[in-house]
Amino acid sequence: MTAKTYMVRTFGCQMNEHDSERIAGLLEADGLRPAASVDDADVVVLNTCCIRENADNKLYGNLGQLKTLKQRRPDMQIVVGGCLAQKDRDLIVAKAPHVDVVFGTHNVHRAAELVGEQRVAGRSIVEILEETAADDHESFPSALPARREVSYAAWVTIQIGCDNSCAFCIVPAVRGREISRGFDDIVDEVQALVADGVTEVTLLGQNVNSYGRDLTLARRRAGESVRVRPLFADLLRAVGEVEGIRRVRYTSPHPKDLRPETIVAMATVPAVCEHLHLPLQAGSDRVLAAMHRGYTAERYLERLAAARAAIPDLAVTTDIIVGFPGETDDDFERTLQVAAEAAYDSAYTFIYSPRPGTEAAGRVDEFVPAEVCTERFERLRVVVERSALARHRARIGATEEVMIEGPSRKDASLTTGRTRHNKLVHFRSPEPLRAGSYAEVTVTGAAPHHLTGELLRVTAPARHRTRIPVAVAT
Ligand code: SAH
Ligand code: SF4
Ligand code: F3S
Repeated sequence: MTAKTYMVRTFGCQMNEHDSERIAGLLEADGLRPAASVDDADVVVLNTCCIRENADNKLYGNLGQLKTLKQRRPDMQIVVGGCLAQKDRDLIVAKAPHVDVVFGTHNVHRAAELVGEQRVAGRSIVEILEETAADDHESFPSALPARREVSYAAWVTIQIGCDNSCAFCIVPAVRGREISRGFDDIVDEVQALVADGVTEVTLLGQNVNSYGRDLTLARRRAGESVRVRPLFADLLRAVGEVEGIRRVRYTSPHPKDLRPETIVAMATVPAVCEHLHLPLQAGSDRVLAAMHRGYTAERYLERLAAARAAIPDLAVTTDIIVGFPGETDDDFERTLQVAAEAAYDSAYTFIYSPRPGTEAAGRVDEFVPAEVCTERFERLRVVVERSALARHRARIGATEEVMIEGPSRKDASLTTGRTRHNKLVHFRSPEPLRAGSYAEVTVTGAAPHHLTGELLRVTAPARHRTRIPVAVAT
């Protein structure tokens, strides 16, 4: 019998992508094999996001296309998981009855079982849990089997959920309360990854700087006299010191919780990359307060200056929202000023999107008109690109270490690598370089979103095993 095949489509953030790796791992553990295309997949999983409205629309657009496919192949199973599934629940099957399975963010570990159960039941199954059991190790995506997208760099979940209440954000509603994963479990996983040939890890959490707060509080409640200390800094150090790790990244720190100890760890642990992603969201204190961000622009800039003073040659990136309800021209001017002063290497910029159920979505009277948002968005893009280009030009002539990713997506005659600053560099190589290898490149050109360079030498070949394609059983 031919093995059934699957395809997972991911719509969201890195956590969502990491969940997809787990879903793929679970399906493979169940005997399924990756499909070459959606046209011949027996199981199609849509791992959804609902951070902005267009993320919602994408799901329903995709389901429309899959409907036609399912009419031709009624045996095909359509599965919807992730944050939008957590939010919309039964609504998905009501809107799209051809969906076979819906699961949420707290039961990713059930993905393969639910697919099996649906086949037997023959009717749609919707399983959404309200929350993750704190002691349930299966709930940490990193504790499940995985089919990693690349074999030389890996995501490692250190925390799930979020205890903040940013007025615009749906994440706490769909990902639940903040739960930290055990310190030793994380370090053990990194060691196992290194043994597998991984040399770069990215630690994932919605608010990584509060990592461990819940663990220490739980121990205190149990009567132990432990000091609440910034465990994230300790974690960075422990992971960075794992033998064989060359690069440690993390995302996202919250500016209000960015502690000096974290900066010290970044400055002193050689493997931790000189890159800080510090989401600003807005430059006006009035808007920051309405967003419940817990810092002022001045405080933000002070913390950034301290980080730059401690970590030479630090790259800084951010997230910014324009058009938050009630944002005036003056508020927006302040965002432009702070963005210019912060001199970002790059920024993810978004137009505010009301998310039903969040506090800001109720401020309908103060919504900023769409055309004003578009204009602000464009002006912010210009400011960010100006600093990005200036910072990239300043690197011309420098030698950078890059990790090879493979042929450039735009021009296959070029090779693409990523610097410690997380910047893409495109360059020519006389021979193909294996992804995951490290090389030195001299920067020769700059653009707002990438660098170009010349290869000097390969410094370390990739260590991971190449995945042997699994033959499809007949
Ligand atoms: N936990 C991360 C953010 C995760 S969401 C943090 O606090 O940094 C990623 C980004 O999406 C946010 O930083 C924010 O800029 C943007 N975002 C979240 N909700 C949004 C909304 N309703 N409209 C527009 N952008 C939003
Ligand atoms: Fe959302 Fe704020 Fe939590 Fe980030 S910190 S996930 S923006 S609520
Ligand atoms: Fe990520 Fe989107 Fe969920 S940004 S946490 S997949 S809502």
